[in-house]
Amino acid sequence: MNIHVKDDVSAETLAIVNELKSLEGPLLPILHRLQEEFGFVPEASLPLIARELNLSRAEVHGVVTFYHEFRNHPAGKHTLRICRAEACQSMGGRELAEHACKVLDLDWHETTPDGKITLEPVYCLGLCSVAPSAQLDGELHGRLDRDELSALIKEARA
Ligand code: FES
Repeated sequence: MNIHVKDDVSAETLAIVNELKSLEGPLLPILHRLQEEFGFVPEASLPLIARELNLSRAEVHGVVTFYHEFRNHPAGKHTLRICRAEACQSMGGRELAEHACKVLDLDWHETTPDGKITLEPVYCLGLCSVAPSAQLDGELHGRLDRDELSALIKEARA
């Protein structure tokens, strides 16, 4: 990270903290906003947040790592979300998830080395009646089988 990027992160972090710190329980809203701004929660933001909210660095770090939706590095160009909630699990979602991990050679929350695809679990996409389902970027897909999922992955990799 060069010094300018670091300055930007610090300035943006402080602006966000100042805007949200009067909320009750401001830490999660601050982390969500940082992730919206940067696509991830920068490591350099954590000590600033701790100082401004009067928390220890360990407390802030603990919250970031507890909630899997927070990432500490940028996401890939595409995000593939596989539903892991009950209705999908009972309709083949587990096999679909295993297939995605195998084809991409990724574990959850990881990104392919070429930076193209990030794999995320999601817990219900509102498509339970057409389970199993997944989402590629903003697009929802129901009644997916392995071949269709492979085709989606191929499309994202192209
Ligand atoms: S459980 Fe998968 S979409 Fe609802």
